[in-house]
Amino acid sequence: MIPILLLFLSLFPAPAAFAFPGVPVSTCRSFCGNITVDYPFGLRPGCGHAGFRDLLFCINGVLMLHLPSGSYRVLDVDYAYRGLTLHDPAMSDCYALARSPGGRGNGFIVEPWRAPYLQPDPNNVFLLLGCHAESPLFQGFPGKHRPCRNVSGMGCEEYYRCPAWAVFPGGGGATSRRDSAAYGAASPPECCAVEFGAIRAINLSHLGCEGYSSAYSLAPVRARGPGAWAYGIRATYSLPAEHQGFCGACRATGGVCGYDEANNANLCLCGDRNSTSNCDSDVDFGVGAVGSSSTSVDGTLSLTILVGGILVSTITWILAF
Ligand SMILES: *[C@@H]1O[C@H](CO)[C@@H](O)[C@H](O)[C@H]1NC(C)=O
Ligand SMILES: *[C@@H]1O[C@H](CO)[C@@H](O)[C@H](O)[C@H]1NC(C)=O
Ligand SMILES: *[C@@H]1O[C@H](CO)[C@@H](O)[C@H](O)[C@H]1NC(C)=O
Ligand SMILES: *[C@@H]1O[C@H](CO)[C@@H](O)[C@H](O)[C@H]1NC(C)=O
Repeated sequence: MIPILLLFLSLFPAPAAFAFPGVPVSTCRSFCGNITVDYPFGLRPGCGHAGFRDLLFCINGVLMLHLPSGSYRVLDVDYAYRGLTLHDPAMSDCYALARSPGGRGNGFIVEPWRAPYLQPDPNNVFLLLGCHAESPLFQGFPGKHRPCRNVSGMGCEEYYRCPAWAVFPGGGGATSRRDSAAYGAASPPECCAVEFGAIRAINLSHLGCEGYSSAYSLAPVRARGPGAWAYGIRATYSLPAEHQGFCGACRATGGVCGYDEANNANLCLCGDRNSTSNCDSDVDFGVGAVGSSSTSVDGTLSLTILVGGILVSTITWILAF
């Protein structure tokens, strides 16, 4: 029985079943300036995870991240901690306030479909500046309850100590507005610190703010004073848990993890072909083909077993007589 099965299996070899293509990692890994762009990100369409498609662009050696709110320079990609450090040249920091009635700077708005994959870090504080009294920020929070708060020990009380505020037009007026602004004042605070999760989008025009700043602390390091804070936006990225299995299997079989540009489904890039599972799986030139090709493997096997079974029973029948 076993030699017969082997004979039939050799007559119907599963194509490329034992091939180990070992696609070069450079298929999708690349550099932009001195920053490595690798899974789950990609600079080429079809590379990385679809949740990060149309996100990063390398422009003259500068890595840029594009969101509906604007473009940010990527200063660092931290693969170990799943973090991105972004810089918005139009945002305020400790040395300069960038404000205009229409709002200066990008803020931070992620497409709803991308939100599960990319969010500002919970330890990132957004300091909203000059938001007007009618701002949705101050509505629906009766009395002393405003969304303004300290985030990871960073807040407006400390930010006001920055040199940028010393030269802020209005001088003493601004100071009194800051002090009166603590809670419940008729005039809104000059600065309102929020955590992204509390308002889900830093849309300066929607929030009626003149500008913003953003700072982050990488726990457990607590920066002492606003001059030592890191200014910029720290974002975190994540992938659905079930995806780890797909990408692990793809890599273990010599593939590179990517996605299908037509339907954004996971795709294992195996060099001369693409697979929706991994590079050891049966040949699969397109999505949808994987179902029919695995059916054909099953079909071949059942045919082998059927023919083998008939042969064995025939031999048994011959021997019996
Ligand atoms: C890239 O180079 C710049 C200086 O050119 C340096 O400040 C930065 O830390 C480097 N980034 C990485 C990720 O090595
Ligand atoms: C595999 O998929 C990638 C990304 O979608 C595509 O660029 C490439 O042409 C495909 N290769 C083959 C052999 O179909
Ligand atoms: C933020 O922390 C400072 C001390 O660092 C404190 O004085 C202030 O009341 C806090 N603000 C809020 C809104 O909790
Ligand atoms: C920001 O808010 C304004 C006003 O509500 C809206 O018109 C605009 O589309 C929003 N921007 C984004 C990128 O969603």
